[in-house]
Amino acid sequence: MSQPKTAAAPKKKAILTDTVTNKTMDLPIIDGSIGPSVIDVRKLYADTGYFTYDPGFTSTGSCESKITYIDGDEGLLLHRGYPIEELAEHSNFMEVAYLLLNGDLPTLEEMKKFEKDITYHTMVHEQLSTFFRGFRRDAHPMAVMCGVVGALSAFYHDSLDINDPHQRMIASFRLIAKMPTIAAMAFKYSMGQPFIYPKNKLSYAENFLYMTFAVPAEDYQNNPVLAKAMDRLFILHADHEQNASTSTVRLAGSSGANPFACIAAGIASLWGPAHGGANEAVLAMLGQIGDKKNIPEFIKRAKDKNDSFRLMGFGHRVYKNFDPRAQVMRKSCHEVLGELGVKHEPLLDLAMELERIALEDKYFVERKLYPNVDFYSGIILRAMGFPTSMFTVLFAIARTVGWIAQWKEMIEDPSQKIGRPRQLYTGHTRRSYKPVQQRG
Ligand code: ACO
Repeated sequence: MSQPKTAAAPKKKAILTDTVTNKTMDLPIIDGSIGPSVIDVRKLYADTGYFTYDPGFTSTGSCESKITYIDGDEGLLLHRGYPIEELAEHSNFMEVAYLLLNGDLPTLEEMKKFEKDITYHTMVHEQLSTFFRGFRRDAHPMAVMCGVVGALSAFYHDSLDINDPHQRMIASFRLIAKMPTIAAMAFKYSMGQPFIYPKNKLSYAENFLYMTFAVPAEDYQNNPVLAKAMDRLFILHADHEQNASTSTVRLAGSSGANPFACIAAGIASLWGPAHGGANEAVLAMLGQIGDKKNIPEFIKRAKDKNDSFRLMGFGHRVYKNFDPRAQVMRKSCHEVLGELGVKHEPLLDLAMELERIALEDKYFVERKLYPNVDFYSGIILRAMGFPTSMFTVLFAIARTVGWIAQWKEMIEDPSQKIGRPRQLYTGHTRRSYKPVQQRG
């Protein structure tokens, strides 16, 4: 199971019978190293004139990948073969970043060099701070992230050539290194506080916390428990196979767009409440519920198909039993609250009661709707002092590593083509233009 291989030459086939024309077609079945095999439909249109139809891509593999494997029924998440629980327990975010990008865990020497390569790029071009000042102070930090990360392509011209492996590598280092700096700057800007420059002797997570919460007027002490929780949160969000934002990055990159523009596209996709915006939505929902006594009313609303209300932080497109990241995050949540001495945080009490009631409710049990990672991450981040608007930004910092690894894998794949889905057209058939006087 551990040896990655290119998908085996197909030996099995599926047979498609067109009952209209009575023609049959053999479709090769390709096996991966684990997980469901795929039916290769690449020649379907050329041979039959049919497209496949799969809105939401629930049954469609868009690429071959060796990076991340998920078994939603088993609650399994592997990065390059390593279970997420082991990485969260024993590794650190920089090591996981190396693993995702390069395929194997680093030796000590490789790790030192990688850390040096990343920290070398933590500062941003000084003129970027002027760029920040063009935003309103009350702008959502994800709006700022979309703009500033996209703008990196206007600042780093020497790493835009995607056909040059060295430039691709430098762009990757730059993005991973600068995301925490840009995110902290977005936070500082919203607070009206001065930007804090990175300190490279600190770890990735420590540095981010320092740039976010330090102020020039006072000494700043990193809290190791919080830094560990931050690092773990980054690990848990580092990659997640072909989700909406990763697919967005791949699709944008498939046209040859530069990596900074592609990651900005990924950030835009992540922003939505059904994806990375869910942890922010969890806190908004808890605020809306307000009190434990109101939980039954909101559970009832979540079950009502005529009501758009859903329990945020519950359910997952892929995990239909449990989210392995949620279990680690739940533990981390209690560690952070213990460290900060938060014993009776009303929102936490409310969240725990909601979790308990939903897990016993037939509707949620039958549909296998369990708390996902966002349910707990929001609570941790709030306790650490982040405003809710920053939650998705933290997700974006972590996921940048996954986006970059997936983008790099795609660019290095010789069979890569521009992504171009097809459609089932149900609009008007051809009709002739009428001058305005003749319409009505
Ligand atoms: N609250 C109430 N009902 C729900 C919820 C929910 N959170 N999630 C799913 N359901 C119901 C659906 O209405 C549907 O019911 P039905 O079978 O009676 O029609 C059933 O459960 C299956 O749901 P789908 O919508 O088919 O599940 P899908 O895989 O399309 O959606 C999603 C997954 C988008 C995550 C959904 O569960 C949801 O909106 N959850 C809340 C938002 C959230 O927490 N998102 C975070 C995702 S994790 C991440 O991005 C890191």
